[in-house]
Amino acid sequence: MDILVVGGGGREHAIVRKLKESPHCGTLYCAPGNGGISRDAVCCDVAATDIEGMVALAREKKVDLVFVAPDDPLVAGMVDALEEAGIPAFGPRKAAAILEGSKVFSKELMKKYGIPTADYAVFDQPQEALAYVRERDRYPAVIKADGLALGKGVILCDTYEEACQAVKSLMEDKVFGASGSRVVVEEYLTGPEVSVLAFTDGKTVKPMVSAKDHKRAFDGDRGPNTGGMGNISPNPHYTQADADWCMEHIFQPTVDAMRKEGRPFKGCLFFGLMLTPDGPKVIEYNCRFGDPETQAVLPRLKTDLIEILQAVREERLADMQIQWSEKACACVVMASGGYPGSYPKGLPIEGLAADGQLSSGSADVTVFHAGTKWEGGRFVTAGGRVLGVTATADALDAALDKAYEAVGEIRFENAHYRKDIGRTR
Ligand code: AMP
Ligand code: GLY
Repeated sequence: MDILVVGGGGREHAIVRKLKESPHCGTLYCAPGNGGISRDAVCCDVAATDIEGMVALAREKKVDLVFVAPDDPLVAGMVDALEEAGIPAFGPRKAAAILEGSKVFSKELMKKYGIPTADYAVFDQPQEALAYVRERDRYPAVIKADGLALGKGVILCDTYEEACQAVKSLMEDKVFGASGSRVVVEEYLTGPEVSVLAFTDGKTVKPMVSAKDHKRAFDGDRGPNTGGMGNISPNPHYTQADADWCMEHIFQPTVDAMRKEGRPFKGCLFFGLMLTPDGPKVIEYNCRFGDPETQAVLPRLKTDLIEILQAVREERLADMQIQWSEKACACVVMASGGYPGSYPKGLPIEGLAADGQLSSGSADVTVFHAGTKWEGGRFVTAGGRVLGVTATADALDAALDKAYEAVGEIRFENAHYRKDIGRTR
């Protein structure tokens, strides 16, 4: 099968490398891809959000499947456009991707079907949102933009003044555009966070092994939120009892609810969970593989990924046995100095061979490229998150040691990475 992967980050690199392991895999394309991905797939210069361009590319290359990885094209309906053009695609249609595209939709769905989540209220008028915050008088207040906001649409406010600022920037200054036309004000929850990605064909749901993200930029979970500075799998907080409980009360009910709403979800559904003192609750849904979660989870997948994708498309997931490695996996993100704020690009990266992997060729270590370019015979930085340095080992500590050893072999000016991935609470 010739396959086109849509996207160009570390997640897409991890997907490309896993697809390549399959004996069913023919020519692999990635659009737009990046420097590292270009060593493993044919990169094509079409933006991930360009729906018409992607349909044309898939036609021109006569691919057998398009794997749409990022949120924006899924929420905008890229899978619908591909399928209407007769091109098989992996990922939810627009009507299902709304689970990530609208927090108001997802909260109302959870309320209607009794899926545990934080209490909330929805507002489309700034004054009403603030009156509610003032009357409730409980802090931190959690204020969320309804729509997609580059992962930055959640604001935790410690005071009423901060809430005023948050409501103003989302609803009046519209820093995330129309995403902030409506806001959700939510109860503040506490407890360890767990990421669970799951394959679902609209009826059956098969959770993958769990992961733990590290969203803050600096050690000790300090600093601004980022797309994710590192990830480990499995998540040490998530027990088999939690997994069983979530299957019964969250995973299957969500998939059933979407089907009942006439919005069957086919693809990868990402459950952002919090293990609160009152039990697991949904913090958010994503309609796609997570990044960097995918970089720590997919290396542990033993079953042929292409066979799983086909089972999802053909609604045969119930018959599929999906096997995972018992090993632990750790991914440390090396970012450009300044990320998630502004940062320079084009800095040469040392320590990588022409195939994008460690020059020392360390077994058990894979370097997933997130923001790199192959230029003049070497890799240079080209994004905020630059590399996801990933290692597997029998136990988490050993995987972390190997990943950090590999990080030490890679250099670029002002490289920033957290030193405590996998070692925080
Ligand atoms: P989200 O983009 O919805 O995943 O939110 C980003 C981060 O904000 C989450 O990973 C949590 O750490 C935090 N967060 C979101 N909602 C809540 C909540 N209701 N209570 C506490 N923290 C939250
Ligand atoms: N790492 C979280 C996400 O992909 O949204």
